[in-house]
Amino acid sequence: MNYNLLIILGYGFLLFSNFFFVSNADPGQSCPNTSPFVGFKSEFTMVQHQVRGFLTITDDCSFRISQFDMLSGSDVHFWGSIAPDFDNLTKGFIVSDYKLNETYKNASFSVKLSQNATWDQIQVLSIWDLLTESDFGHVILSNGSDLAPALSPNLAPAPSGNDSEEGKSGPFRVPTMFDNCKVLSNDYRIRWSLDGDFIDIGLEAAINIQNYMAFGWANPNANSEIMIGGDVAVAGFSEEGMPFVDDFFITRYSECTIDKDGSAHGVCPDTIYEGSDPVGLVNNTKLIYGHRRDGVSFIRYRRPLVSVDTKYDLPVNYTENMTVIWALGLMRPPDTIRPYYLPQNHGGPMSVTYGHLVLNVSDQVNECLGPLDAADKEDQDLIIADANKPLVVTTGPAIHYPNPPNPSKVYVH
Ligand SMILES: *[C@@H]1O[C@H](CO)[C@@H](O)[C@H](O)[C@H]1NC(C)=O
Ligand SMILES: *[C@@H]1O[C@H](CO)[C@@H](O)[C@H](O)[C@H]1NC(C)=O
Ligand SMILES: *[C@@H]1O[C@H](CO)[C@@H](O)[C@H](O)[C@H]1NC(C)=O
Ligand SMILES: *[C@@H]1O[C@H](CO)[C@@H](O)[C@H](O)[C@H]1NC(C)=O
Ligand SMILES: *[C@@H]1O[C@H](CO)[C@@H](O)[C@H](O)[C@H]1NC(C)=O
Ligand SMILES: *[C@@H]1O[C@H](CO)[C@@H](O)[C@H](O)[C@H]1NC(C)=O
Ligand SMILES: *[C@@H]1O[C@H](CO)[C@@H](O)[C@H](O)[C@H]1NC(C)=O
Ligand SMILES: *[C@@H]1O[C@H](CO)[C@@H](O)[C@H](O)[C@H]1NC(C)=O
Ligand SMILES: *[C@@H]1O[C@H](CO)[C@@H](O)[C@H](O)[C@H]1NC(C)=O
Ligand SMILES: *[C@@H]1O[C@H](CO)[C@@H](O)[C@H](O)[C@H]1NC(C)=O
Repeated sequence: MNYNLLIILGYGFLLFSNFFFVSNADPGQSCPNTSPFVGFKSEFTMVQHQVRGFLTITDDCSFRISQFDMLSGSDVHFWGSIAPDFDNLTKGFIVSDYKLNETYKNASFSVKLSQNATWDQIQVLSIWDLLTESDFGHVILSNGSDLAPALSPNLAPAPSGNDSEEGKSGPFRVPTMFDNCKVLSNDYRIRWSLDGDFIDIGLEAAINIQNYMAFGWANPNANSEIMIGGDVAVAGFSEEGMPFVDDFFITRYSECTIDKDGSAHGVCPDTIYEGSDPVGLVNNTKLIYGHRRDGVSFIRYRRPLVSVDTKYDLPVNYTENMTVIWALGLMRPPDTIRPYYLPQNHGGPMSVTYGHLVLNVSDQVNECLGPLDAADKEDQDLIIADANKPLVVTTGPAIHYPNPPNPSKVYVH
């Protein structure tokens, strides 16, 4: 009676075991965990296309990509090379059939290496656009013996007070990555990580390069005029394209003005109220990193939670709900009367160019899904000159390096 059933069961079993056989025979069978790179995990260094995310090497022939963000490119592949310099990157090779053919928003997926690729050929794993020969982002691999903190990020040593690495909590943290992210408006986000007595803040906005990004804490005793007594950082790019951040204090709803007697009012740098800051007591925000990529301004800075400056800085209690304020607007470049970059009135509407919210910096928050996608991604490369006026081209440090290595197009009419 049950004979037919047995046959069906048996057939099913056959299919089932066949399925296993097939999937095992796929590179899986020949995929042990012998490479010293197995278990390695690192963050991607962003170069272009707003690449963020993690790489984990799962075994000798596969890796995992997680929390991955990328703006789509033309012909994008995983790419191996022996060193991250431009020459060696360009001489690299495709390491997988996987094609990165879309915009990624917090994506997680596994990737198999090509049959002919092994980890010991890959010192740098990049996300590479073949068409433009450009690096969107990369990870420098380590077998773990030289860079142990990557495998146990929680044991990463605290940054040592004053060296150039300050602000990165270990060799594998890249400056574009943070523990938390909050959306302030469609075009503006704040990312942050707590690090002992300090907070690292990343301001990120799809704005023109001439615009500022302001963010800070409101005075907890402020009444209806929430900005008064606010302690904010103002970040942007100089006319030469260099990133900066300054420590500001707000005494009035107006741009910074200095009276005849030298007293300052409005939205002014802390240093202006004091006249100067010879010992670094009031200028307490410290630039860690900044870039302008894909029409997005990104600046990472660090401030103490509780500053030595009790006059123009507010203490941030990291376990409390505190009101923070933010704004975007046009920056006024320095002139002879006001030798500082100063923010101009942000205008409106609320929640687009300015706003406030309650933030507990100890809360784990990540509400930023996918990369910021600026409408104009090329503004910084555009130089407009009047007809018949000479255009002087000079060489100097490439502030938008690598771009990809070259601007994709140079037109001279
Ligand atoms: C990168 O390539 C150059 C030759 O183009 C070579 O001299 C150099 O050693 C390479 N870098 C590394 C780290 O292997
Ligand atoms: C990208 O490729 C994958 C796999 O080949 C496919 O499923 C997906 O639809 C493609 N996405 C786009 C936007 O073409
Ligand atoms: C593996 O083969 C592909 C094409 O089949 C080639 O493009 C690639 O360079 C090869 N990789 C290595 C490491 O030889
Ligand atoms: C790990 O890397 C270091 C430096 O790159 C090297 O000296 C060491 O031999 C490597 N260890 C293994 C097991 O490959
Ligand atoms: C950096 O810190 C070390 C000790 O931690 C100190 O000896 C050195 O003077 C400091 N350098 C600067 C530039 O402050
Ligand atoms: C604050 O200090 C930085 C160096 O840490 C400096 O570049 C900047 O000009 C200072 N800002 C003001 C307003 O003095
Ligand atoms: C932070 O706030 C909590 C709760 O209000 C309080 O217990 C703690 O003492 C405050 N910490 C500091 C450094 O002010
Ligand atoms: C802090 O803020 C959170 C979220 O906004 C809220 O749920 C909580 O009740 C607040 N706590 C206090 C003590 O106000
Ligand atoms: C702030 O967040 C931390 C961690 O989630 C929590 O322990 C603390 O109670 C929160 N504070 C308030 C006032 O809600
Ligand atoms: C991103 O994905 C992770 C799981 O991989 C999830 O925990 C997290 O909430 C996601 N973040 C956003 C902003 O959607």
